[in-house]
Amino acid sequence: MFVMKRKLTVSFTMLVLLGRGLLADEGMWIPLLLEKYNIEEMQGMGFRLTAEDVYSINRASMKDAVVLFGGGCTGELISDRGLLLTNHHCGYGRIQAHSTLEHDYLTHGFWAMSPEEELPNPGLTATFLVRMEDVTERMLEGIDENTPFRKREKILEERASAIIDEAVKGTHYTAVVKPFFQGNQYFLFVNEVFRDVRLVGAPPSAIGKFGGDTDNWEWPRHTGDFSLFRIYADKNNMPAEYSPDNVPYQPKKFFPVSLKGVKPGDFTMVFGYPGSTARYVPSDHIEMLTENLYPELIKIRSEKLAIMNAAMEDSPAVRIQYAAKNASLSNSWKRWMGEMQGLEKMQVIDRKKVFEREFSNWVQADKQRTEKYGRLLAQYDSLYGIFGKYNLLYQYFNEVFFRYGSEIILFAGNFRVLEDYWQGDSSLAAYDAPVERLQQVAGNFFDDYHPPVDRQMFAAVARLFETTVEEEFYPEVWKQMKKKYGNRYSEWSDGLFEQSWLDDASQVKSFLAGFSPDSVNKLIQDPAYRLSMDARRFYYLRIVPEYMRLRQQISELDRLYMKAQIEFREGERLYPDANLTLRVSYGQVMGYEPRDAVIYRHYTTLAGVMEKDDPNVYDYRVPEKLKALYREKDFGRYAENGELPVCFLATNHTTGGNSGSPVINADGHLIGINFDRVWEGVMSDLMFNPEKSRNISLDIRYVLFLIDRYAGAGYLIDEMKLVE
Ligand code: ARG
Ligand code: ASP
Repeated sequence: MFVMKRKLTVSFTMLVLLGRGLLADEGMWIPLLLEKYNIEEMQGMGFRLTAEDVYSINRASMKDAVVLFGGGCTGELISDRGLLLTNHHCGYGRIQAHSTLEHDYLTHGFWAMSPEEELPNPGLTATFLVRMEDVTERMLEGIDENTPFRKREKILEERASAIIDEAVKGTHYTAVVKPFFQGNQYFLFVNEVFRDVRLVGAPPSAIGKFGGDTDNWEWPRHTGDFSLFRIYADKNNMPAEYSPDNVPYQPKKFFPVSLKGVKPGDFTMVFGYPGSTARYVPSDHIEMLTENLYPELIKIRSEKLAIMNAAMEDSPAVRIQYAAKNASLSNSWKRWMGEMQGLEKMQVIDRKKVFEREFSNWVQADKQRTEKYGRLLAQYDSLYGIFGKYNLLYQYFNEVFFRYGSEIILFAGNFRVLEDYWQGDSSLAAYDAPVERLQQVAGNFFDDYHPPVDRQMFAAVARLFETTVEEEFYPEVWKQMKKKYGNRYSEWSDGLFEQSWLDDASQVKSFLAGFSPDSVNKLIQDPAYRLSMDARRFYYLRIVPEYMRLRQQISELDRLYMKAQIEFREGERLYPDANLTLRVSYGQVMGYEPRDAVIYRHYTTLAGVMEKDDPNVYDYRVPEKLKALYREKDFGRYAENGELPVCFLATNHTTGGNSGSPVINADGHLIGINFDRVWEGVMSDLMFNPEKSRNISLDIRYVLFLIDRYAGAGYLIDEMKLVE
């Protein structure tokens, strides 16, 4: 038998089955289409409700109890007074923002004991889906493969805005039209956005983030990852900006909370906002990620995280300042490593190649298909060769200079408005607004800024930048610094920080307070500012245009390849990639085997929290009060066979954005809050493995126990509707 050299050890038929057929439990389904594609299967798996119970525009349905929480998490309503449940890590930034050394809610937790104590969160939104509609025909009418890209974009934009205008006319709703199946289908979403969302409660991080980044993306898990908010509305129950006169929102629907627990095989449904997946990409894409992009990103983040971690370990104040930044850097850093391992173990590149071979055979068997799709894979191949390079540059500039990079360089970038005005030769009064805005930005920045951390990070990333990025992509100011300092990166960083005044809160403050157009001279001589401007200029001149051009070409191929895959896989039920729209995933409660001879049970208990307890390890310090409650073993109605459940596993297909999603049982009752996935299955964004891909949920009984016994906030339990 012919065996391809590259570790093709899986049998061909198995590959074909796995590569082509949709696997049980895989899929993020469209709520509007459940009736057509899923409900029968769901009911076959034990679901006792109807598609209308999940999504309906004629009556209250589950979708009326689910929100997009902020811009990237999910939340669910659990009382008729607007009480909202989400993850601790979703409320994290807000909890941090309310925290000071005196009132350190991150460390000690926060519980409002009355409505007056709830804390407002400017800018935080909770978005309900009012309705969705397939608008594909109207969007794509008259457009075909010969329509040039720009023309297509323009037509789509015009049509979308007309559709949106019609949809929201005379209402307070907002709307958006989103592409599905890489632009082969379009849906309209009409939303209702609430803007007064207050913090009600959060456990201490030692519970809500128990296990921290050590346990993140792993099982067995013991994290009490929840926080509570409340949506407020005006007197007519309508969305309104924050006002002390607002009242708790009365939702159309909220979830009853089940105390019945879970057993292996039980039906589970996750209803939320998965952010993005890439299920239909060619093997070239996976190669780019695992061979080129991820290894570099992992390396640079490892260095930054090591520096932050050491400083956070040394100082409680720095721990608060860098908590959210650290969590966000670390979360993807660890996921990339898990994805790489999972993709490799599952031989995803080989599987994709086998699929591509079959696909090519199918294409070549027909003349028309050959004309339409015959060059697709070859085009991908040549495009990814060069796209890989620009994609890495694009991400790397962000890791070094911008979004995830050196803080001072990113911060300095904000001051550009002053130079812009200056060049525009404006009057002093024109500066008032930008200066005021900068004062705000600076206030927020310095709250969470510790210059020694940033100084060390700059030295570290400077070194990596030079080993990873070719010289032709060094910004001009970089080259000058290189000439001066050579490879002495610490000196380089020290020089930058000593000469710059942008890392000094009081100097920035007085600069802004005494600002006059002449001050711009002082700004443009600052080395951090100069590097920031130069890096930005270079990035927008040399990297972004090429990156965008290639990305656009790939996205055009993606659209065509998706169309072809739909034809090729005719008769199969396909689900569109996640795109931060409301989706249903269903599956069942189930443990798994991470590796030979190791079997993971489907749930964890409070006993496991105590097992992990270790006062010497920050991530594993169990609060005294929780230990006392454990010793008393007084778990009341929240226990099962004398144990207090903490987390459980199921086979639901989820991704980033699904955090905080309600996990619902066969009767439509809340049994858990989704918050993570397991290490061996985390590549499910790219390929789902039914044997290893599991979502991790917090058992709702642990949440209730903590609210009731730990926090003594039983009044919140009284608001809920418990099902015993
Ligand atoms: N891995 C989970 C998700 O992707 C949880 C992340 C928050 N926890 C953390 N340790 N950073 O969001
Ligand atoms: N933890 C993720 C989130 O924040 C969920 C996941 O990726 O499984 O949405």
